Amino acid sequence: MKAATRLTCFILVTVVLAENSCLGIRFSGRVSETPITEQQLQTTVFALGSFWRSEAVFGCLDGVVRTTVGYAGGSKPNPEYRSLGDHAESVQIEYDPRMISFKQLLEVFWTSHDSRQVFGQGPDVGNQYRSIVFTNGTEESRLASVSKEREQTRSKSGIVTTQIQQLGTFYPADPDHQKFELKRHPFLLQLIGNLPEEELEKSSLAAKLNGYAAELCPPTMQKHIDAKINDIVRKGWPILREV
Ligand SMILES: *[C@@H]1O[C@H](CO)[C@@H](O)[C@H](O)[C@H]1NC(C)=O
Repeated sequence: MKAATRLTCFILVTVVLAENSCLGIRFSGRVSETPITEQQLQTTVFALGSFWRSEAVFGCLDGVVRTTVGYAGGSKPNPEYRSLGDHAESVQIEYDPRMISFKQLLEVFWTSHDSRQVFGQGPDVGNQYRSIVFTNGTEESRLASVSKEREQTRSKSGIVTTQIQQLGTFYPADPDHQKFELKRHPFLLQLIGNLPEEELEKSSLAAKLNGYAAELCPPTMQKHIDAKINDIVRKGWPILREV
């Protein structure tokens, strides 16, 4: 090899390596073990009844990195809990598309509420509890429509009332409403080191434990976290860092 070619190769390899390490991708090993960058995250928003519960449903799934409750789907500027106007209580889900897909999130969406209920969900009555899949454009709208049709077939007589809407503005709710289920369990908050509010809202671990606190994690995950907590309690080891 000529020196110049060798140098070019060296530079290329270096650039490729550098680029890959920036992205957190290793050449061997499972891709999902490497951390994801903010740019690689994808975001989706669903409305399916009380947002306290919605956040708990999605927070515990593998591949979900962050959850935030808020308001979407209406026109009122700056909605708040007691005056949310025509918005619906919603959950914003940031996820790693290498580990979970929009289609899989849709499946969880359908199985986690009753899309045939009109003007409410369970004990919660009102337009703010309506069912909506928010999308980012044509491809997601298509996937959402296909999956809604499938759900309609499954639900036989009842009409699936879920709306499919292009997402406008998502307004995050006040801190009081974020990780609401987790905050009802001071022991769990303590177990993860009493994180300050800003950290708690961004934490994947808090999102998982929020689902755990509401007993809405998938059964294997619920058991796995139980075991971890019991282990910590037994050893007296103070802080839970991951599950
Ligand atoms: C919309 O979301 C999908 C994931 O469901 C993603 O692949 C796509 O890049 C997004 N499109 C836009 C325009 O953001």
